[in-house]
Amino acid sequence: MSDTASELPVTIAGTGSYLPEKILTNADLELMVETSDDWITSRTGIKERRIAAEGEHTSHLATNAARKAMEQAGLDPAELNLIIVATITPDTLTPATACYVQQNLGALNAVAFDISAACSGFLFAMKIAKRLISTGAFENALIVGAEKLSSFVNWEDRSTAVLFGDGAGAAILTRGEEGGGEILATEIGTDGSQTHLLNIPGGGSACPITSKNADKQLATLAMLGKEVFKHAVTRMRDSANQVIERSGLKAEDIKLVIPHQANLRIIDAISKRLAVPSDRVFVNLHKYGNTSAAACAIALDEAHRSGKFEKGDHIVLVAFGAGLTWAAAAVRW
Ligand SMILES: CC(C)(COP(=O)(O)OP(=O)(O)OC[C@H]1O[C@@H](n2cnc3c(N)ncnc32)[C@H](O)[C@@H]1OP(=O)(O)O)[C@@H](O)C(=O)NCCC(=O)NCCS
Repeated sequence: MSDTASELPVTIAGTGSYLPEKILTNADLELMVETSDDWITSRTGIKERRIAAEGEHTSHLATNAARKAMEQAGLDPAELNLIIVATITPDTLTPATACYVQQNLGALNAVAFDISAACSGFLFAMKIAKRLISTGAFENALIVGAEKLSSFVNWEDRSTAVLFGDGAGAAILTRGEEGGGEILATEIGTDGSQTHLLNIPGGGSACPITSKNADKQLATLAMLGKEVFKHAVTRMRDSANQVIERSGLKAEDIKLVIPHQANLRIIDAISKRLAVPSDRVFVNLHKYGNTSAAACAIALDEAHRSGKFEKGDHIVLVAFGAGLTWAAAAVRW
């Protein structure tokens, strides 16, 4: 699903991120499950991940990231029109985590809702917010990718426990000016025939957690990693290529590709297939693991704040996740 040509420009006016303090290293995991730093590093590229404190919920991570993005954009909470939180680890099934964020920020003039598109969620939120601003319905939006995956990991399953972490990233979208910074193209897609490849089977209406199944760890992530891997490479390559083409760009015009941070081998495969050299592909998964909807958002903020791109540069964000879902965005900063 792509953009239409006649939209008003929408720009990214600020970014922010927040990572919990606690670090869980590969050496720590060696004491918890049968694994090794060598296996995790060589198969995934991950060295450590962050774990939220007890009492620190997804909405707290999201709020901290949001405050930084708002500060950078120079926007007060009362001026916010729209809050979209992308998460698969909400504080509660209802109300939406976005409503807790609204409360925390005191952004009481905004409309707040969540979307669930797994690791592609931040870019789904970007597309929705972009469209709502470009049509004139809203003047600005806070979009957040936030996850507390540590609450939904089976810490006895080595095939998933080593992969995931907690964190949040945020961006403020506002109306832009012709020729200035602009989200040039966005792309989102889903394939509901592959829901079985990656899911949290329990805890929803299909399989409520009861006293009879409470010991089965059903409300934790289950994944067929090898299958997911293949889909991830193809879908991310294709969706990135679509936004690059629709923006009238070529691989050499792209200052930085910011991919979903799940596995270094997936990132390397995409770098090759897009013909973008690895020094122009942003990687921070060694520090945080896979933070699902937060990953692209945290990476965008870190790349921005560390000067990896500047005003006028072109960047491409691309993600893939459970659903299956995929998404990409091409941005002129
Ligand atoms: C999960 C992933 C890292 C596994 O890597 P892989 O090379 O496919 O590894 P496999 O699952 O085939 O496992 C290979 C072996 O390592 C073992 N293994 C799995 N996890 C392990 C761990 N943490 N430590 C040590 N050994 C492990 C397996 O049991 C298997 O052993 P076997 O050959 O004796 O059966 C990889 O498939 C992946 O990254 N998939 C995509 C993940 C992704 O993108 N997910 C999110 C999208 S949002």
